[in-house]
Formats: sequence, structure tokens, C-alpha cells
Amino acid sequence: MKLWSVEQKKYTSIDNKKYETLFTLANGYRGLRGQLEFTKLGQKGNFIAGIFDKSSAQVTEIVNLQDPILLNIYIDDEIIDMEQCKVLAFNRRLSMLEGVLYTAIELETRKGKIINLKCERFVSRNNVHRWAAKYEIVPVNFTGKVFFESVIDGTVTNSSQDPMNLAKHFNVDEIFDVKPGIGLKSSTFDKKISAVETTRLLADNDFGNIFKSRKYNMLAEKAREVYSSILTQGELYTVYKLGVSFTSRDKIKNITEESKKELDAFTVDGYEEEKEAHKAVWQSIWNDIDIEIHGDDEAQVGIRFNLYQLASSAYEGDEKISIAAKGLHGEGYKGHIFWDTETFMLPFFIYTRPKVAKALLMYRYNTLQGARKNAEISGFKGARYPWESADEGLEVTPKWGFDYDGKPVRIWTGDEEFHINSDITFAIFEYYRATGDKDFLINYGLEILLDTTKFWQSRVEYNKKEDRYEINGVIGPDEFHEHVDNNVFTNFLAKWSIKKALDLVQWIKKEDALVLKKLCNKLSLNELDFKAWETIEKKMYIPTSKDGKLIEQFEGYFNMPSIEITKFDENGMPEWPDFKGLKIAETQLIKQADVVQLMIMLGEEFSDNVKKENYKYYEKRTMHKSSLSPSMYSIMGITVGDTHNAYKYFMKTVLTDLKDNQGNTDFGIHSASNGGSWQTAIMGFGGLSVDKDEVLNLKPWIPKHWDEMNFNINWRKTRIYVSIRQDKIVVKATNSSKVKIYNDEYNLKKDEEITVTR
Ligand code: BGC
Repeated sequence: MKLWSVEQKKYTSIDNKKYETLFTLANGYRGLRGQLEFTKLGQKGNFIAGIFDKSSAQVTEIVNLQDPILLNIYIDDEIIDMEQCKVLAFNRRLSMLEGVLYTAIELETRKGKIINLKCERFVSRNNVHRWAAKYEIVPVNFTGKVFFESVIDGTVTNSSQDPMNLAKHFNVDEIFDVKPGIGLKSSTFDKKISAVETTRLLADNDFGNIFKSRKYNMLAEKAREVYSSILTQGELYTVYKLGVSFTSRDKIKNITEESKKELDAFTVDGYEEEKEAHKAVWQSIWNDIDIEIHGDDEAQVGIRFNLYQLASSAYEGDEKISIAAKGLHGEGYKGHIFWDTETFMLPFFIYTRPKVAKALLMYRYNTLQGARKNAEISGFKGARYPWESADEGLEVTPKWGFDYDGKPVRIWTGDEEFHINSDITFAIFEYYRATGDKDFLINYGLEILLDTTKFWQSRVEYNKKEDRYEINGVIGPDEFHEHVDNNVFTNFLAKWSIKKALDLVQWIKKEDALVLKKLCNKLSLNELDFKAWETIEKKMYIPTSKDGKLIEQFEGYFNMPSIEITKFDENGMPEWPDFKGLKIAETQLIKQADVVQLMIMLGEEFSDNVKKENYKYYEKRTMHKSSLSPSMYSIMGITVGDTHNAYKYFMKTVLTDLKDNQGNTDFGIHSASNGGSWQTAIMGFGGLSVDKDEVLNLKPWIPKHWDEMNFNINWRKTRIYVSIRQDKIVVKATNSSKVKIYNDEYNLKKDEEITVTR
């Protein structure tokens, strides 16, 4: 159990927000932050994927909806409150295996009454509309009146603790009595998306129902039912709170009626039955995703935590939603979707749960209209995906924010971070390569590819003097440097993507010429455009050092003062070096992996030597001020044989939230870092790559103190099981497949297990 759990052993209200993030329960459809019922301190959150609103906020943001979780327990007239009571015992544990949050507390009221509470909560994976909590209560030293008050709170706002940004995003339209049970229906201001929450309290002990009387109220924007009961000292009582949620996005006629019906059905099924079904779904998810690490418990729990959060954040049943940078775990980054999804999280889904990967890519297809609009309003053609995306694919990056010292700064990423277009096309090919899903490529991927290439065609600039194409005035992955010219990450990926589009055009001509014809009509393209693309692709400028050994992150980068990192903090993270009076942007210090990330994404395009030289150069200059960075250096470190840092960076990544090492876990989970953890384990330690001939390669290396690492992946409808030990590697496949292990080719027969000794 220990290796499947995350625990909080001590209560300190200052940590409430962090634990609410860590203990968020989500099923991809919705996320409920892990707030403790018995305190008002924290930042509660109920997010349903795809529900965004702007109204009075700075930009469109994910809506923090009405809170259905509240349960107040009163002993006589005293409310149980962590801050008012003496905490005699405390433990919270997230079982990642089951997807259940367990809380055990014993509290003494100011009047000296002691109550023992064991609580459970889950957000169902079996039926995404259901969630539930169970409370086992023992009055330790008293017999007397106890009230249970269940509330659905419609007063929730976004940014409740940030006075300048506080915003309410919904109207409370209806509060109703479900007799028993309560309901609250809301609708967002801008688009009138409705969401209804209904809940019902049930109680049980050996004699059946323990409630004596019930009262229902509507209190302004709150729905409330309260029950009284008389509890006897030492007896165990159980109370359940069952919850059901529907929204107008569910395409159901009358969501209020539907939710009442569903609440009845849930009552009939019962808490325990739903919990079992929920656990069974998690079990099957774990069969797909688990990575076992033997010999390092911290790494084992750490990696599982990241896999758990990724799987919790995705829902294949809706192709109009994607995973936000902070998952469904908080309001950070306003619930926006970044390149984090395609470049960090998607590989995990492609190789473990390809249906989810497809749904995530479909989100980009379904937001193409927005991307076209972005291109148009910035004076370009084709499709320009937004740096930050919400429900429509329109650019929603805020224009203003605050720097590290709290000073207002203009945010340029939404204007300049163009590489998002090729991050998406890159992901399409990653998906296609691993799944062979032709239908997706032809019907959706192709259109994205053609329209984003059309954007590049209008965005590149021809430099006549040098006879080359350039992309100027951009921001690459390293966001310390803005308005730069010819960022290699941007140019190289654009070039790669244009080449892929051209190859695809040739391919589809043979495969289904009519499809191309129709798309050319739809997107206003013709052979002359394809000719132009060829020239742009050939002449795209890729800056390097004079001797050609180093990739120059952007034009002029090597002319800037070189300041290297020499000191590290107690977590092994770089400390700011002395800038010698310069601004960061005037130095070679970079925020996060940039060139190194490119060499990982397009590994087959760079020689081992180029990788090694560039890794060495950029590592000394990377501040890792984004959680997206350490994983990339871990993978590249292993690839180039600099394994001594690989473990450090891996642990940095897997513990990003568990140790809160970026200092902002309060605001949501670091989803990209969740994905980076998987990539480091599989592509770093597992040494998984796909070569130019599209053969799967494994070149594993695991840290000395690990006994073994086991995982499985999906590769073209075949499941491949890999077990890496210090002295050997064992591989098995469910269909005959070709695999290279340390460069030697093996033709695996169906279900045959092969062992390769090192
Ligand atoms: C990083 C970006 C990332 C964003 C959201 C920023 O700090 O620099 O690369 O997409 O956070 O996670």
C-alpha cells in the first residue's frame, strides 16, 4: 500500500492549498480539489472540463463552479472546525491505486466533546457524472444531538484570494429540493453554459437510518439540507453524501431532471457498489500505465503520482476538451491549454492509452476555426494555434502579468510564441507513427497540417541578401528572451513540419486524391503553394556556431555575455548567478530546455556528437525556471552518457508537486511535469526511441541503486512488456514485432519472451 499512497500526516492550515491540489480527485470530465470539509481555509475548486467564461475577468478562464462538497457537522450548537477544535489525530491518504481519498481525524470541541471521523471521497471513473463521500463517525466521549448539514455553495468565485482578479462566472438560476437531497443549477455569464449539482445525504448504522428530522433551505446562493440525530457514545455511524453533476455541454435535454434521476439511480446502486466499479476502472487504467521501480521507494511513489495525475486529467469521451497546464486541479494559468499537452503529456497517452491521445488531438482539430481567426486578426493566413487556448482555440494569453519582483510586465508569449503550431503537428505524427491511425491522419491531421503550413508560408520572411527564409520576432521555449530572430526550435520544427506536409501531400495524392482536392478547395491551396513550401523548407535558416558544432539557440545568442551557473540550492537547483549589472535577457542564461528539447523531439535528426556538445553547453546556462525543463535534461543526459545528473533531474521532475519545488503547487498540478516524468522513465531510463526506419529502439540505463524497472507500452496495436534489470533486459510482445535492443535487431514472436544480457 505504501508504494501506492501519498500521505499527509500533520495538519497545518498553511499547507491546505497545496494538499488540495495533491489530493484533487478528477476523472477528466471534472476535478474536485481535495478540500477538507471541516475548515474554511484553503481554495476550493470544482472544475468541469470545457466550461470557460470571461465576463469581468482579465481573460477567458476555467470556471470555478458551485461547490457540492460541503458537509458541516454540529455537536449541539458547535460546528466541527479544524481551526476551532483541538486536533487529536490526523491523517489523510490518497490511494492512487483506488483513486480514493481517505481522511482520519479525531477532534475535540471547545466544550470538550471528542469525535472520531473516518472519511472517504472519490470522483467516479465508472460514471463520470457521479462523485461520493462516506463519513464514519464515532462520538468518543458523549451521547447527544448531532446535526449534519449538507450544502451546495453557489457563492464560489474565481481568484477568491486575489482581490484585483476576483471574478464570478455564473448566475445561480435555480435552487431546488430533491426531497431528500438538494440541487443547484447555474449558468455562465457569457455563453450561458448550465451546470447542475445535486447531492443527497444518506445515513446508516446497524438499525438503518439515523436521521430524526430534516430541514431544507435556500439560503441566498446556497442550497442546504440539515438532519438532526442523536448519537450514542462509542457507537459507529455512517453517513454518505452522493453527488451527481450534469452540464449543458452533455447534450442532454433537461439536465435538472436528468440529475435527479441519476441521483435516484445512484442511491439504488449505493456508495459501495459505485466505489467498487470505480476501483475496477482504475485497476484497468493501471494495467496500461504503471511503471514499477524496484529498489527506490521515493522514485516509485513519485512516478506513480505523476502517472495517476495524468490519467486523472484526461477523458476520452469529449473531443472538445484538452488538459490544462494545471490539470483539473486548480485555477493556475486560468485553466488554459498550452504546448504542454502535445509535447509533454501526449507521448504518455500515445504509448499507454491511444484513444485518449486521439481525443486530445481532436480538441485541436475542433478548435481549428479559432486558430484560423488568430491568423487572420494578426495579419496572416492559414491556422495559427493560440499559445494559450480555452474552449474555442482563440488566443487567450493575458497581455499583462507580474515579474519575479512583482512589477507589472507585458506578456508577449501570446503574440510571439509561434512554435505551438509545429508542436501540434509534431504530436500528430508521433500519434500516427505509434498507432497507424490512418483515418485520423486523413480526416483530421491532414487539414491541420496543411492549414498550419499555410500559416508558416505567410509568416516567414525572405532575406534576399542571404537567400534564406527567416522567422523573426519570436519567443522560443526559453521565455527569458523575447522578440528574437530565428529561434532554432521554432525554425527547425517549422521546417520539419513543412516537409511533413509536403510528404503527406504526395502520399494522399496516391491514397485518396479526392480528399486533397476537397481540402485544397476548402483551404484555398494549389500546386503553386506546394512549390513555395518546398523552397521555404529548403532555405529555412538554422543558426549554428561558426564551427558548426553548436546550435545557436537564436540568431545572435552566442554574441551575448556568457554567464554560467555555478551554485545550486539544497534541492540541487541552479541559483541565480551574478548578472554583472545586466538583465537576464541580455545574458545567455535560459529559462528552460530549448535546443535540448528540440534534440529530444527530433532525436533522429541530430548526431550523437551534436547532442553531446549542445547538452554540455546549454546545461550550464539553464536555470530550470519552468517545471518543463529538468525532465528534458535528464533524458538528454542519459542519451549522451552523462548519467550522473540524470537521476537528480528525474527526481526533480517526479517530485515537482510532492515537494512543491516550484513553489506554486497551491494553484494546480504541473501536468507537463507529470508527462515529463513518464518521458524520463521510458525515453530516458528505458531508452525508448523510434529510428528513421520506424523501428522501436530500446537502449536502457537505470540508476545503480535500482534493481529493476518494468513497464509496458502500446506500439501499433501490440503491447510490449519491458523489464530492465542491471544485468539484462527482458522483452515480450503480444504480437510479432521487430525491436532493436542496444542496436541489435530482434524479431519477437507473439507472446515470446526474450532476454538480452548486457
Ligand atoms: C513555461 C512554458 C509553459 C507554461 C505552462 C511557462 O512557465 O515557460 O513553456 O508552457 O509555463 O506550463
